Amino acid sequence: MPEIPNFISETAIVKKNDPIAQGIYLMRLHAPRLATACRPAQFLQILTESPYLRRPFSVLRADRKAGWLDLIYDIIGPGTERLSVAQCGDQLNAIGPLGRPFAPPETKRILLVAGGVGLVPLAFLAWEHPDRRPDMIYLMGAANAARLPDMSALLPSDLPLHIATDDGSVGHRGFVTERIAEHTLPNHTTILTCGPHPMMARVADIAAELNTPCFASLENHMACGFGACVGCVVEYKTYPTEDQRYRRVCLEGPVVNAHEIVW
Ligand SMILES: Cc1cc2nc3c(=O)[nH]c(=O)nc-3n(C[C@H](O)[C@H](O)[C@H](O)COP(=O)(O)OP(=O)(O)OC[C@H]3O[C@@H](n4cnc5c(N)ncnc54)[C@H](O)[C@@H]3O)c2cc1C
Ligand code: FES
Repeated sequence: MPEIPNFISETAIVKKNDPIAQGIYLMRLHAPRLATACRPAQFLQILTESPYLRRPFSVLRADRKAGWLDLIYDIIGPGTERLSVAQCGDQLNAIGPLGRPFAPPETKRILLVAGGVGLVPLAFLAWEHPDRRPDMIYLMGAANAARLPDMSALLPSDLPLHIATDDGSVGHRGFVTERIAEHTLPNHTTILTCGPHPMMARVADIAAELNTPCFASLENHMACGFGACVGCVVEYKTYPTEDQRYRRVCLEGPVVNAHEIVW
C-alpha cells in the first residue's frame, strides 16, 4: 500500500465567489503554493467549517504567477452551502494537491466527456496542455440550460465544444454519452471522463464497445483524502492479491483506468 503522501496546508483567501449557473458557484482562491503545485484532476481538501470533515474539490485552472486557482462547486449539502456564503477576504484552510493527475494521452484524439461539475478536471487538463489542444474535443452534458454555466468563460477558446442537455434546452437533446461514438476516431482516441457515477459508468461501457482506452476521474465520498481512513475505496475487476481488490481512490486515483474497475 502507498504511504501517506506529502501535501501542502495553506490558508487560502477568497477572491471571488459567484453563482455561474443554478446552484453552481465559481470560487477564486489566492493560494500561491497550491496554485503552483496542483495538476489536472488532483484535488484539494477544504475545511468548510470546523469541526466538520474537509470536502474534496478539483481545480478548474490556476494562475501560478498571480497565485490564484479557481474551483467550481455544486451546492448539495452543508459543506457546499457554507462555501456559498463565503465572502471576499474570508480565509479557508486547504490541503493538497492530493491524488494522481490526468496526463494527456499519446493518441491523436483526446475526447473529454464531462457531466455537470465534472467539467472541472477536464477543463484544467485543456488549460494546462495548449500544445495538445488541437487533438482535444470537449463534450459537455448538463441537465438543462439553467444548470449549464457559460462554458466560454471556463474553457480555452480554441477547444472544440459540443453541448448536450437532457431536455434539449441547449445543444443536443439527450445524454452527452450519445455523442461519443461520432467523435471517436477508431484506434486513435483516448476518452477521459468526469461526472456523475452513472454517466461515467456509461462512458466506460461505450469505450469498451468502441475498444477505446478510457480514464475516469472518480468523485467517491471521501473523509481524510490522503489514505488514512479507507473510506473511499473502489473495487477492481482483477487484482494480483486479495488485499489489492479494493483500492483507495484518494491515493491510487482519483484518475483510474475505467476498464479496470467495477462500476
Ligand atoms: C476527487 C474529488 C473531486 C471533486 N471535485 C468536485 C468539484 O470540482 N466540484 C464539486 O461541486 N464537487 C466536487 N466533488 C464532490 C464534492 O466533494 C461533494 O459535493 C462535497 O463533498 C459535498 O459536501 P456537502 O457537505 O455539501 O454535502 P454532503 O452533506 O457531504 O452530501 C450531500 C448529499 O450528497 C451525497 N454526496 C456527497 N458527496 C458525494 C459524492 N462524492 N458522490 C456522490 N454523492 C455524494 C451525500 O451522500 C448526501 O446525500 C469532488 C469529489 C471528489 C472525491
Ligand atoms: S478518503 Fe480516507 S483513505 Fe481515501
